[in-house]
Amino acid sequence: MESEQPTGLLDPNIQRDVARVYDLVDPPLWLVTSAHGGERGGFIATFAVRASIVAALPRMVLGVARQHHTWGLIEASGRFALHLLYSDQTELVWRFGGQTGRDTDKFDGLPTRESPGGSPLIVNTLAWLDCWVEARVETGDRTIYLAAVEAGGTNGHAHPLTAGQLFANAPPEQRRRLDALYARDEAIDAEAIIRWRAGHTR
Ligand SMILES: Cc1cc2nc3c(=O)[nH]c(=O)nc-3n(C[C@H](O)[C@H](O)[C@H](O)COP(=O)(O)O)c2cc1C
Repeated sequence: MESEQPTGLLDPNIQRDVARVYDLVDPPLWLVTSAHGGERGGFIATFAVRASIVAALPRMVLGVARQHHTWGLIEASGRFALHLLYSDQTELVWRFGGQTGRDTDKFDGLPTRESPGGSPLIVNTLAWLDCWVEARVETGDRTIYLAAVEAGGTNGHAHPLTAGQLFANAPPEQRRRLDALYARDEAIDAEAIIRWRAGHTR
């Protein structure tokens, strides 16, 4: 069957319907870190998913916006670490997800150690995975990485912090900052997706 490739922005009514679908799921927040040439960085992601059911060949998929400081470190090192957070570790989300590491050291004062693969690990988080990039896809706004998981560990058993919990408990000032960052990233991503689609046909 012939079908038309989507090009422009979705009709606002359909946007609302789609938003309601997204509202039904509450994804965990992943703290992503990477390092290269003595520089380290990290950000918060919801776009991280288990991508293999083979226990001996674990894989993750991660989507990283190309404008992020951490993107450059993952590109250069081909490695990253993922952390799940305890539900009271919202301070780490504001620190890593509410500002860019281009002009600030997000790790300042945090106890860290090196993962077996050389990525920075933040100690006292709920869990971590050490990842090695096997493949990458450019999608305009994001680079989507398929990564082999080489090691991991937990510090106990608990429900990880989710996006829903974060927003439900956000102080008004943090919420405003996050909304402003989100709006800025959304505008950058929209332009990048439209440009990408104009150059790609199935
Ligand atoms: C709840 C939440 C979820 C986010 N999810 C993603 C994501 O999946 N992918 C991404 O590239 N950025 C995501 N971000 C945005 C980055 O975490 C944020 O822009 C960060 O400041 C980038 O840091 P950097 O420039 O130091 O790398 C998310 C932010 C928040 C607060």
